[in-house]
Amino acid sequence: MKYRTHHCGKLRLSDTGQQVTLSGWVQKTRDLGGMTFIDLRDRYGITQLVFNMKTDPALCEQARELGREYVITAAGQVAERSNKNPNLPTGDIEIIVNSLQILNPAEIPPFTIEDQSDGGDELRMKYRYLDLRRPPLQRNLMLRHRMAQIIRRYLDDQGFLEIETPVLIKSTPEGARDFVVPSRLHAGRFYALPQSPQIFKQLLMVSGYDRYMQIVKCFRDEDLRADRQPEFTQIDCEMSFVTQEDILETFEGLAKELFNKVLHVEIHGEFQKITYEQAINIYGSDKPDLRFGMQIRELTAEVSNSEFQVFNQAEYVGGICAPGAAGFSRKQLAPLTDYVKTPQIGAKGLIYVKYNENQTFKSSVDKFFDGPALQIWADHFDAQPGDLLLIMSGEREQTLKALGTLRLEMASRLDLIKPDHYVPLWVVDFPLFEWNEEAQRFTAMHHPFTAPKPEDIPLLDQDPGKAHANAYDLVVNGVEIGGGSIRIHDAALQEKLFEALGFSPEEARERFGFLMDAFQYGAPPHGGIAFGFDRWVALFAGLGSIRDVIAFPKNNMARDVMMESPASLNDSQLNELGIRIRKK
Ligand code: AMO
Repeated sequence: MKYRTHHCGKLRLSDTGQQVTLSGWVQKTRDLGGMTFIDLRDRYGITQLVFNMKTDPALCEQARELGREYVITAAGQVAERSNKNPNLPTGDIEIIVNSLQILNPAEIPPFTIEDQSDGGDELRMKYRYLDLRRPPLQRNLMLRHRMAQIIRRYLDDQGFLEIETPVLIKSTPEGARDFVVPSRLHAGRFYALPQSPQIFKQLLMVSGYDRYMQIVKCFRDEDLRADRQPEFTQIDCEMSFVTQEDILETFEGLAKELFNKVLHVEIHGEFQKITYEQAINIYGSDKPDLRFGMQIRELTAEVSNSEFQVFNQAEYVGGICAPGAAGFSRKQLAPLTDYVKTPQIGAKGLIYVKYNENQTFKSSVDKFFDGPALQIWADHFDAQPGDLLLIMSGEREQTLKALGTLRLEMASRLDLIKPDHYVPLWVVDFPLFEWNEEAQRFTAMHHPFTAPKPEDIPLLDQDPGKAHANAYDLVVNGVEIGGGSIRIHDAALQEKLFEALGFSPEEARERFGFLMDAFQYGAPPHGGIAFGFDRWVALFAGLGSIRDVIAFPKNNMARDVMMESPASLNDSQLNELGIRIRKK
């Protein structure tokens, strides 16, 4: 027996008259008088099967017994449909079935397996294998596959070698907590799962492989968000004898190839480059969305001598100019104020200035600032009559961040973002370190192998907080798609950096001794980048969460609710590993 001659997305009007066999899942059964219709589904599409009570009552009865998600094989003749469905590629035809076989019955599924399901998130995660039958998820995974193929082909053409690196390793410092794996042979010792293959790809450069790539799983025990999973996939790359410019050029090429081949979007010219400092000052974010303007402008100097204590005491005053929003009512402004006061934004308040169409002003600080004063603000923002200024004040960094979030919120409220519009950019010149208030020491902003800008090396001793790194991020539409850096390839400089990061020479030796040793044997100048593959696919699929582009993701508590993992170990397993669980 042959299960199928065609798949369920294949047949067209030109196939009319052919005898065919299809296999798949029963999506829907409809009885209409003397006829029974079945939508048969596989990953390629849906084809309508027809059974006629008059011509073959026994077969029609059999069809009526079929439940949702039964797996069947049906053979019959392709016929033109009288009632065509323009929404289906196979909508012009149907199969007049002459033989039917049930390959496997199915329980009634816990939710509908259609484009729009009636199942809640947790339920769909528990039955992920059923959710994965739904066409939108299948489309996402097919997109993911296609992108992976394009990436491999492109990088292969550029001379990159795909090399696998180990998963049972020792801690790699990417800033998150490690997932650890106990060892039976070495009880009391633990492997760490890689937060990225960072050290291995650098060692491969020392070994002379010149250009490395890998589409690879990384593991990070960190708080989850829509764009974070505890295990996720990177397109991980490293190159030797390159400058930052060489790397940006190579991967701009990769990004353009993906935009072009997948979305049919042509990105002309070089990607914009902005420094980290500009990104923070103008957009309040190190991953700015440049699909719209509404840049942040500082007003601290302009408002410094007023009677308004809130401004006088603030380290920073600044705002955005929302185009055409002067008509916002009190009802629209109140939720905005509430929004910026939510704990995740943490602003104390929001001041508004309406620059009315008749060129008068109405503001929440009318008591302190008269028309001419507000006109100075409006000019400062290049505001037009009809615009709305939204101002915040407070500690500099925090206020800029809050304004950055408000900017995104206003863009969405004002519908400023066109669908299918993509603005990629490089954010460059990141600070080398960031101050960790809790630990009272510097931590690496990217990772400890990132090279400082050569001119900033003296700052490592004098004022480490001011040193910049040869590090860069690729940002598209407000999403950090990837990040990388030129690496340190000199053992002495690497040692100095470990020292600035608060590692004692012994600690540095114990954790990274093998890398420092390797650098003694001829390390070429090198650098690289890693892209969040899940994020890239989600961006191209137009999705806000990376979960829907991962076949078997974890939920927002880092649990796999289908397998019920993490799970306990039994006593004999624990004994073998030399582990005793402490009761909380
Ligand atoms: P970084 O830590 O910036 O760099 O990671 C690179 C990219 O990986 C994605 N990413 C994630 N995606 C989903 N879930 C997560 N938890 C997660 N964490 C990171 C982001 C990010 O831009 N070894 C360096 C790269 C290098 O220097 O070459 C690294 O891992 O899109």
